Amino acid sequence: MADFFSGFWSYFIGTVSILSIVVLIVFIAGFSGKGGSAPTGHIWDEDLQELNNPLPRWWLNLFYISLVFGAVYLVLYPGLGSFEGVLGWSQKKQYDEEIQAANNKFGPIFEKYLQQDLQDVIRNKDALIVGKRLFSTYCTTCHGSDARGARGFPNLADNDWLYGGAPETIKTTIMNGRHGIMPPWEGVIGNDNVMKVGEYVRGLSGQNVDTAMASAGKEVFSQFCIACHGADARGNQALGAPNLTDDIWLHGSSRQRIQETIAAGRQSLMPPHKEFLGEARIHLLAAYISSLSQAEK
Ligand code: HEC
Ligand code: HEC
Repeated sequence: MADFFSGFWSYFIGTVSILSIVVLIVFIAGFSGKGGSAPTGHIWDEDLQELNNPLPRWWLNLFYISLVFGAVYLVLYPGLGSFEGVLGWSQKKQYDEEIQAANNKFGPIFEKYLQQDLQDVIRNKDALIVGKRLFSTYCTTCHGSDARGARGFPNLADNDWLYGGAPETIKTTIMNGRHGIMPPWEGVIGNDNVMKVGEYVRGLSGQNVDTAMASAGKEVFSQFCIACHGADARGNQALGAPNLTDDIWLHGSSRQRIQETIAAGRQSLMPPHKEFLGEARIHLLAAYISSLSQAEK
């Protein structure tokens, strides 16, 4: 109701609601009179008369009951303009109370794990079950229910890391988010060189390549790409630059996808969750994520 800028609409709605109840009561009372069985004077098919019978009692009473129900409801719950109702109930209050109740119940459990070292939490089966539930609630939209990701969203269950797989690093990633930026190169090196260096990159992970093009691409790579991907092309976790030699691809490995990546660049955003989830939940999430790849070893 806070959407009203002036009191006018609140009074308007309140008055219309009360008036309609009153008018309906008067209206129905009019029908409950003793009409007797007097003919109305309407006659069909020569001798079929319409009589003015009163409405059945039980049926009218249902109307009265629903009107009384409506009136009582409007006194107890919000409905009459901005009047909040004597119970003071609102959707928002109910929501806040449920959140508060959940926090009171689960808060101490989360806090208990937050006091423990991540390595200990990783070994705690109960904690991992909680972590898995949190993951299902907050992370599967992007990383998939099995945490194996999708194109543009990294697999978190393998042992290949853009930013590093130490539990503390994973925790930092979830807390603060990450923003991976691969710059666009077409304007800098031209389309011809994009194709050559693309061919070289494909060769790094053992895919079939045109060798002449790939060796021409090596030049381009050492000039423009090693600053981030490293001279050995094994990437740089400080920048989130992926290892290009392992045949694990964030944006796809086909000739066309790789050329697109190099020509137009890519940007990937892992949103920060510190404000949203709080450190205690993230501690459990980091433990759960770490457990996935540790199981893989
Ligand atoms: C809106 C989509 C989105 C959501 C939601 C999301 N992530 Fe991410 N996450 C990403 C993207 C995209 C990346 C890759 C960032 C990059 O390439 O720089 C990423 C990266 C990561 C990484 C780093 C992986 C690596 O290889 O270093 C971790 C760990 C991670 N996410 C965990 C989580 C967890 C845990 C949650 C749930 C709390 C979550 N993410 C929710 C999109 C998302
Ligand atoms: C400023 C640092 C930087 C430079 C310079 C750079 N890259 Fe990247 N590159 C990145 C980052 C960061 C990513 C990951 C983008 C993401 O998270 O989506 C990436 C991603 C890629 C990918 C996609 C890998 C995958 O798994 O799908 C390819 C291919 C690639 N770079 C090739 C190149 C080539 C070729 C050059 C030189 C022409 C180059 N990069 C120069 C930072 C850089």
